[in-house]
Amino acid sequence: MLISLSEAIRLLSSGEVVAIPTETVYGLAAALNSPQAIDKVFDLKKRPQNNPLIIHLANASKIRDFVSALPPGFDLLADAFWPGPLTIVVPVRTELIPEKARAHLTTAAFRVSSHPLAKAVIEKTGPLVMPSANLSGRPSSTSPIHVEEDFGPSFPVLNGGPCDKGLESTILIFTDNHWQIIRLGSISPEEFKSVLGYIPDVATTAEHKVPLCPGQLYRHYAPKAKLTLLSMIPSDLKGVILGYTSRIYPPGCQVVPLGNTPAAVAESLYHVLRLIDLEGITHAYVDLDIPQEGLWLTIMERLKKASS
Ligand code: TXA
Ligand code: MG
Repeated sequence: MLISLSEAIRLLSSGEVVAIPTETVYGLAAALNSPQAIDKVFDLKKRPQNNPLIIHLANASKIRDFVSALPPGFDLLADAFWPGPLTIVVPVRTELIPEKARAHLTTAAFRVSSHPLAKAVIEKTGPLVMPSANLSGRPSSTSPIHVEEDFGPSFPVLNGGPCDKGLESTILIFTDNHWQIIRLGSISPEEFKSVLGYIPDVATTAEHKVPLCPGQLYRHYAPKAKLTLLSMIPSDLKGVILGYTSRIYPPGCQVVPLGNTPAAVAESLYHVLRLIDLEGITHAYVDLDIPQEGLWLTIMERLKKASS
């Protein structure tokens, strides 16, 4: 159910959960200062309790309300990328953040969205927790209709139309004396070079005994349909294939276009993953012959997760 800005603010202020647009994907928002509302977020999403939530702030300076000190380079990152699709994990004063929101960790993840509606809401409500507005394991929602698919037609959604980026924020953490990417996202690794002086490593969960990003442990972004990833397309291939607009596929293939540029593919990816289920497609091939750089890295990671 589409609701107005004032209704979204009213519901959040009275401890309800509301879906809100951001420039990346829709978020399932609850007031940070309402443990009951945070419980509802976990229940609604069927989210494992050990998977912490991102805290959305109205502006970068608000992070100082929750920390004793910030890691070196934090201000450079915040100045360059906030408001925008970057999430930064920092050590926090744990007494100031509900245990459940941070899943008992001593760190928390923060983001400042550039979406005018998200900004307008948070300026009135104060900090919100906001995981992606999808059932755990499903593709994120990039338009109000996706939120309604997962949570029902009467679930309140602040309508911002389709999301601009279409993929979640990039998550950084400062560890072992440098910044590392713990979730690939809308900002490519290369984009950090001019700000940090280096391209942050992408930390894989397998390297660490304690996962740096708990959410990366779970199956994700997955349609009900089975996806088979192909790095080379056989000329006699038959079936549905998720492919790129400028390419020619074998005559036996029914092509579902993902777009052509990485930005266009990012914007349409979750919509396409949801669409194939709505179309009743039970198996699809995916053309994975894409560059190992830039935003393509995030697209490749999401496709691998969606097919696992
Ligand atoms: O673009 C986005 O980031 C969207 C919009 C709505 O903000 N949100 C989003 O939230 O993708 P969610 O909950 O789907 O993913 C948040 C990820 C999870 O993988 C979680 O494990 C990780 O952030 N995370 C949260 N707090 C963390 C922490 N303290 N340390 C490490 N990872 C953390
Ligand atoms: Mg998510």
